[in-house]
Amino acid sequence: MFRDAAMCAIVRGLLALTLALSVLANADVLKSAPPGISFKTPKATHPWTAIKVTNPTHNVQKLRSFRGSKTNSRSVAAILGAHQRQVGGFGYENITTTTAYGTQYATDVIWNGFRTMLLLDTGSSDTWVVQREFFCIDYAGQIVPQIACGFGPTYPGDFQYGPTNPEQHMFIQYGDGEVVTGPMGFSDITVGNITVARQEVCLANTTYWFGNNQTSGLMGLAFPSLTNAYLGTSEDHDPGNQLEYSPLFTSMVNQGKIPPLFSIAIDRNSSSGMLAWGGIPPATGIDHAKTATLDMIITNLIDQPATAYEYSFYTIIPDGWQYDQTTDLKKFPYIVDSGTTLCYLPPNVAEAINEAFQPAAVYLWMYGAYFTSCTAIVPQIAVVLNGIRFYLNPADLIYREMVDPLTGLCMTAIASGGSGPFILGDVFMQSALVVFDVGQAKMRFIPREFY
Ligand SMILES: *[C@@H]1O[C@H](CO)[C@@H](O)[C@H](O)[C@H]1NC(C)=O
Ligand SMILES: *[C@@H]1O[C@H](CO)[C@@H](O)[C@H](O)[C@H]1NC(C)=O
Ligand SMILES: *[C@@H]1O[C@H](CO)[C@@H](O)[C@H](O)[C@H]1NC(C)=O
Ligand SMILES: *[C@@H]1O[C@H](CO)[C@@H](O)[C@H](O)[C@H]1NC(C)=O
Ligand SMILES: *[C@@H]1O[C@H](CO)[C@@H](O)[C@H](O)[C@H]1NC(C)=O
Repeated sequence: MFRDAAMCAIVRGLLALTLALSVLANADVLKSAPPGISFKTPKATHPWTAIKVTNPTHNVQKLRSFRGSKTNSRSVAAILGAHQRQVGGFGYENITTTTAYGTQYATDVIWNGFRTMLLLDTGSSDTWVVQREFFCIDYAGQIVPQIACGFGPTYPGDFQYGPTNPEQHMFIQYGDGEVVTGPMGFSDITVGNITVARQEVCLANTTYWFGNNQTSGLMGLAFPSLTNAYLGTSEDHDPGNQLEYSPLFTSMVNQGKIPPLFSIAIDRNSSSGMLAWGGIPPATGIDHAKTATLDMIITNLIDQPATAYEYSFYTIIPDGWQYDQTTDLKKFPYIVDSGTTLCYLPPNVAEAINEAFQPAAVYLWMYGAYFTSCTAIVPQIAVVLNGIRFYLNPADLIYREMVDPLTGLCMTAIASGGSGPFILGDVFMQSALVVFDVGQAKMRFIPREFY
């Protein structure tokens, strides 16, 4: 339906009509959200002309990547399993192992003078570091040795400006069942060259966590509506006690330190990824004429109110996919997620693309993924955003580290996302500089060379 409407609009050359139709089409796509999920569109907070998105900034930080045999299902488990998760009692579920390789990105932060490394998460809003005297607990809520939580160096001090008054605590449960809680207070937080004064943060004192032994907490870059602070010190995480606060990125903007956007460029299999505050990293050999601009949509995962669990992602609606000579322009919402390695597509699109490998990839249900010969010929695959093709790096389309021991076949990068929503993971993000233009409620993508 959309294709015909779009072509009709182009023929008439009516920009206004195109816009109206695309809003209409998006509304239809958004209404068909799978169970446990809802979408909303944030409002632009800054006038259209206020900021030049192409401005390079020197506030650039290196991203460290952690890649290994442990899956990163912090967000993908939330996406694929939100409505299937069983939460009872303290509410933990073991990590699923079906999500292949996970990549996590982290960056250096100075927390009241203490240099620490925090995971970068565009899918949550709270920023926290683990305090020295914390309790590490297991899935059953039993206290286990701190080492089991796998943190890097723990934060030795207290809040620079004291706790919140009245007292508040953070309680967050991530998509894979990890839980972090602790008191809220105020400290200066420095990222790159930018110091955010008196930021409201959490010093985690109880965690159920699967760490990498290097990072000591997490920096959440999503919106105020997704913060998880609650009145009191107790275990009462009743939604009625929730108090929204200004998360790190919002404070940075409100304190006038940067324009309201950040951008991320990740590199394949390396630690040379970049996070730029208030602009884009300088001189990355990109062609701004090719910028694809899409509406930013927030995906919420709705869970049992008892867990007061809320998780959100930056979501877009691509035009569709192209693989070899085939173009598929059916529209679906996709989450742009640096915390997920593969791309998760609607089942029939995933199936069709996997059939284009030679030999054709087959679905192995144990993994929820497709496998083909490790030396297969790969198709040319692009996701089409705003009329621009973003080609996936052919070198990434077959995961040679991920071999099924029974068949000797290798996993492909195009997996089935079930009933959705669907995910554009690292395999896609490596092909673009991604600008989270929060001020204008747009996501912008600029094609990059493969590195
Ligand atoms: C900090 O800012 C200065 C000048 O604005 C710039 O030269 C330098 O590269 C910046 N450093 C970082 C780490 O962003
Ligand atoms: C989770 O994993 C632990 C340790 O491997 C196991 O003992 C427990 O039964 C598992 N729980 C569930 C709900 O699968
Ligand atoms: C953790 O901090 C909360 C305040 O938010 C406090 O009530 C609780 O006793 C602390 N727990 C531990 C184990 O220190
Ligand atoms: C972290 O260190 C512990 C103890 O040395 C080890 O058992 C665990 O495998 C390490 N985890 C990772 C992800 O490296
Ligand atoms: C990643 O880089 C390492 C070291 O440079 C190399 O040994 C490895 O084969 C690379 N992996 C992939 C998937 O390219």
